[in-house]
Amino acid sequence: MLPIQTLPAVFAATLVSGLSTSSQIPLQYAPKIDGAWENLGLKPSPNDTAPLIFDTVNSLLQHWPNTRYRNGHTVVPGTIPIGTLLYHGRADSSLPDAPDWTAVDPEHSFPFCGSPGLLNGNASAPGCWHLTIAVTRPLKVLYFDGSSAVNMKFGTLDSQDLLLWGEVRPDMWLAERKRIDGLCAWGKQLGVDAYVRMEMDFEVMLCDFHSGVKLVSADYLTGWWPSRMPPPAFDLSAPPPASIPEDLRRIMEIVSLETVRGGSWHNRYPGDTRISLDLSKLVSFYDTELVPSLIPHRTQTERWDHRLQNISTEDVEAVTARVRAVLSDEESESVGSGVDWKTLYRVVVDRYADRLELLQHLLHTLPPSTEIEQHARTVQMQLRIMLAVYIPAGLRPSENEGDSTWAAPVWRACATRHTAPIHELLSLIPSERTLLNALDGTQREICRVVVGMWERGVRAGLDMLFPSESPVALDPGVILRKWKRDADALVTWLDWSVWVKCLPACGPEEMCYLPTWPYFFRRLDDSEDDPEFSWKRPQPRCVRQVAPYERL
Ligand SMILES: *[C@@H]1O[C@H](CO)[C@@H](O)[C@H](O)[C@H]1NC(C)=O
Ligand SMILES: *[C@@H]1O[C@H](CO)[C@@H](O)[C@H](O)[C@H]1NC(C)=O
Ligand SMILES: *[C@@H]1O[C@H](CO)[C@@H](O)[C@H](O)[C@H]1NC(C)=O
Repeated sequence: MLPIQTLPAVFAATLVSGLSTSSQIPLQYAPKIDGAWENLGLKPSPNDTAPLIFDTVNSLLQHWPNTRYRNGHTVVPGTIPIGTLLYHGRADSSLPDAPDWTAVDPEHSFPFCGSPGLLNGNASAPGCWHLTIAVTRPLKVLYFDGSSAVNMKFGTLDSQDLLLWGEVRPDMWLAERKRIDGLCAWGKQLGVDAYVRMEMDFEVMLCDFHSGVKLVSADYLTGWWPSRMPPPAFDLSAPPPASIPEDLRRIMEIVSLETVRGGSWHNRYPGDTRISLDLSKLVSFYDTELVPSLIPHRTQTERWDHRLQNISTEDVEAVTARVRAVLSDEESESVGSGVDWKTLYRVVVDRYADRLELLQHLLHTLPPSTEIEQHARTVQMQLRIMLAVYIPAGLRPSENEGDSTWAAPVWRACATRHTAPIHELLSLIPSERTLLNALDGTQREICRVVVGMWERGVRAGLDMLFPSESPVALDPGVILRKWKRDADALVTWLDWSVWVKCLPACGPEEMCYLPTWPYFFRRLDDSEDDPEFSWKRPQPRCVRQVAPYERL
């Protein structure tokens, strides 16, 4: 994964010689990770943002997780490569002379290609202009995560407000023209060409249509929709006007669904790959070293409700300075170590996502009491499988009841093997230290819980390869219940969006959907009292993707 020549020579030598012996002597170059490995009961601090940063990194540029948690906390510089197409619906055929919005998918720009003639029956204005634009040199962009193009007063715009105005500005929730002009002016000296945000799909706010892009085609299309705004945006707080004829209402449903469909193509990993992010320059408001002032505001607060409005002035300044530094080509902070953070993180999700899901399933589906012990052995085997490459030969359980310290080498190896070489790199820049800490913290907790569960099973004599000489007489039913609590707590702590899906899976005429702005605005009035429809805490459901449509 990591090219061996990037490691210090002495470390590479250790690695190579380690391959030729079967001994499991702990790595000489142990990562400098806080804390002892003896106490498997030591839970992470509730203030720990490692799982938040971990899930953030694994969700960048993916539509699904950023629809689920709308309030972005992270900005990442990146580039859009040459040849990438962008789309723009408008009233005439010329390129805009001011900063303007473009879509990455025509499904998202077409609804902006309105034909006012449709509504008033003006036959001389039947169509609308739809522009296709190509990138002609790598565009330097800054990406705001979350549903950052969503005009709401509940936190989606916080990170932009802070960079732009130094404070959260609820009064500016609809000031999109001021926002794009302001951001483009702010980033001009830093060479930022565009800002990437997300709503129903990803959008690129392009600062200059006469630099770095060219017009490929201006097409006069048959419009479907009478407004230059997409469907329910006539008035964000009111139902669509009754004056809209029935056939246009039906078109509105189609256009809405197809816009969501465009976004859904980027739902899961690797997300929208047309934007290439440089994770070594990631700046997050979840970074507690950079932004300590928000720690107390997150206690007792669910992630849906995390806001940036109570940040201290010093912390805003620190974040702004960091963003400027990573965007500036002159600063030393802008050259990372070369570690592929996206892949490094992804490997952890790949290795644990379906295994933890299987584990949870086994613990939630218990057989009749006569088969309980066998079931517990099956679970124990799954735990051992997860840890197999970290269990040294010759390791023996402690004779002392209640003593779990013997499992410390397994926990340590499980938690640190993946990042140990990265700790040896001297060239990490501050953003990469944040990424490394979050990765370490996440693995430490996964391994703490899994090793703790496995260790308990060993002591109860449930492990096939460790038949205990004197198994503690523990009721397998009791162990299964404790395991279930542990697994549930870990899955809740991790809260990975890969586990959020429609169950049972949707039918062939359906798609899995999370309540997406602005569609839920049509029912804001009744939503508060409707447990089936929680737009504030989006839950997945299947919706039809062909007529008859359902309300989005
Ligand atoms: C119809 O559309 C044409 C072309 O855009 C415009 O010049 C004209 O004013 C419109 N007429 C009405 C009644 O809206
Ligand atoms: C968590 O943060 C709060 C507020 O800053 C602090 O009072 C508390 O001591 C912290 N808890 C731990 C376990 O560090
Ligand atoms: C956080 O900010 C909000 C909005 O400005 C304010 O109403 C609230 O009192 C603040 N909370 C604290 C603890 O400062």
